[in-house]
Amino acid sequence: MTTALVILAAGKGTRMNSDTPKVLHPIAQTPMLVHTMRAGAVLSPARTVIVTGHGSEAVAKVAQVEDENAQIAVQDEQLGTAHAVAQARDALNGFEGDVVVLYGDTPFLQPETLEKMIEVRAKNDLVILGFEAADPARYGRLVMNGENLERIVEYKDASDEERAITLCNSGLLACDAQTLFALIDAVGNDNASGEYYLPDVVEIARNRGLSVTAVACDEAQTLGVNSRADLAAADTIFQSRARAELLNSGVTLMAPETVYLAADTVIGRDTVIEPNVVFGPGVTIESGATIRAFSHLEGCHVSRGAVVGPYARLRPGTELAENTRIGNFVETKNAQIAEGAKVNHLSYIGDASVGAATNIGAGTITCNYDGVMKHQTTIGENVFVGSNTMLVAPVSLGDGAMTATGTVVTRDVEPDALAVARSKQENKPGYARKLFEMLMAKKARRNKGA
Ligand code: UD1
Ligand code: CA
Repeated sequence: MTTALVILAAGKGTRMNSDTPKVLHPIAQTPMLVHTMRAGAVLSPARTVIVTGHGSEAVAKVAQVEDENAQIAVQDEQLGTAHAVAQARDALNGFEGDVVVLYGDTPFLQPETLEKMIEVRAKNDLVILGFEAADPARYGRLVMNGENLERIVEYKDASDEERAITLCNSGLLACDAQTLFALIDAVGNDNASGEYYLPDVVEIARNRGLSVTAVACDEAQTLGVNSRADLAAADTIFQSRARAELLNSGVTLMAPETVYLAADTVIGRDTVIEPNVVFGPGVTIESGATIRAFSHLEGCHVSRGAVVGPYARLRPGTELAENTRIGNFVETKNAQIAEGAKVNHLSYIGDASVGAATNIGAGTITCNYDGVMKHQTTIGENVFVGSNTMLVAPVSLGDGAMTATGTVVTRDVEPDALAVARSKQENKPGYARKLFEMLMAKKARRNKGA
C-alpha cells in the first residue's frame, strides 16, 4: 500500500513563549519536526506534506533540508486540525493510497507503531492512534464500543463520564486519501473552541457506516511538547533512551547521565566515553576510541583507537584517523588528522590537514583567518612542529620538516627542512639582578610615601 504523510506543523505553540515556531525547537539538537519526519520515513511515503503556518518559511526550510521532496502546504489561519489537513489536499492531488496524519510536536513516535497502524488500516476504513494516559488531563478521549471507536470527544466538550475515560487521542490517524478528504469536508466547527477538529472525522465515519478502530501505543511515544518544561522533559527522555541503547550496543559510558547525545550520534562498540562529554549533531565514532572527560564534539568523525581530550573541542569537518591523539584544550575545525598524528596540548588546528605520525607541539596555532577569508594549512607526514608555532595560512610544511619553537611560519617549508623565524636571543650578564634591585627600591619608596 502506498502512503503519504501529512505532518501538522502550523500551530504557534503559544505556551512555548518563543519567537521560534514550536516544531523547530530541538530535542537532542534536532528540531522536533525532523524527529517526526524521521519516524514517518519508515513508511517510505510516496509524498510528504508539511502543513505550515506560524514561521512557515523557517519551518519549510528545515523540512526541505531533511527531505528535499517534502511538499509544503500553508495554512494561513489556524482554524483547527481538520482544517490543517484540508490544506494538504492540493499537494495530494492524484495521490491514491493511505494518508497518515502526524503532528510535528510529537517527536517520539516509534516505527513499529506506524507499521501497526498501516496493518490495522488494511482491515478498517479509519484508524486512530490512542494511548492509555497516566494523567489524561486535557487530551481528547476515545469513546470505544468493543473494537469499534465511536467518537473522540475533546476535553473541553466532554461530560464528566467521558472525562473519566483514560484511553486518549494522540491525534494521529491513518485513512484512505479520498475517504479522509470526504470526511474532512463534513467537519464543522460547532464546539467549545470554534475550531475544525480532526478527531470529528471519527463520528462522521461511523455515521456513514465506515469501520473505525484505534491502535494503542505507550504514552511516551505520543508525548506532545507544548511548553519549555515539556521540551526539557522530552529531551531527558530522549537522552536516557539513547544512552541505554549505547550501553546495550557495547559502548562504555562511565557516567551515563552526564553524557549529552545528539539524535544522530553514532558510537562504535568498545569505545569509552568519560564523564561530561557533549555531542552536537553529526558525530560518528568508530570502535575502540576513547573520548575523555569534558570534551565537546560536533560534525566530526573519530576513528578506531583515537584518544580525544580531556577538554578537547572537535568542530565540524574534523576527521581523526586511527590512533590519533587530540589532547587537552585543543580545538580542531575542518581538519584532517592522519593516522598516528598527535595534537596534544593547547592548539587550534583549523582548515588544515596533518600528515601521518606528525607531532604538533603545544600552543601551535593555524592562523587560518586574515579577517576576510579563510586559508588552508597543509602539514606533511612525520613533521615535528615546535611548541608555539604560528602557521600563517595559506602555508605548507613538507614531509619530515621541523619548525623551531616560537616560529612564525609565513612561507612554505620544503620537506626535511627546519624553519626558524624568531629573533635572536641575547643574554645580559647581571642585568636581572640589577633590575630586581631597582624595582624593589621603587616599591619601598612608594610604600613609605603612602
Ligand atoms: C489535539 C487533539 C486531541 C489530542 C491531542 C494530542 C484536536 C482537536 N485535538 O489537541 O484530541 O488528544 O492533540 O496531543 O485535534 N495544528 C495546525 N493547524 C491548526 C491547529 C493545529 O497545524 O489549525 C497543528 C499544531 O501545530 C500541532 C497539532 O496540529 O502540531 C496539534 O494541535 P494542538 O493545538 O496542539 O492540538 P491539541 O489541543 O493538543
Ligand atoms: Ca498539542
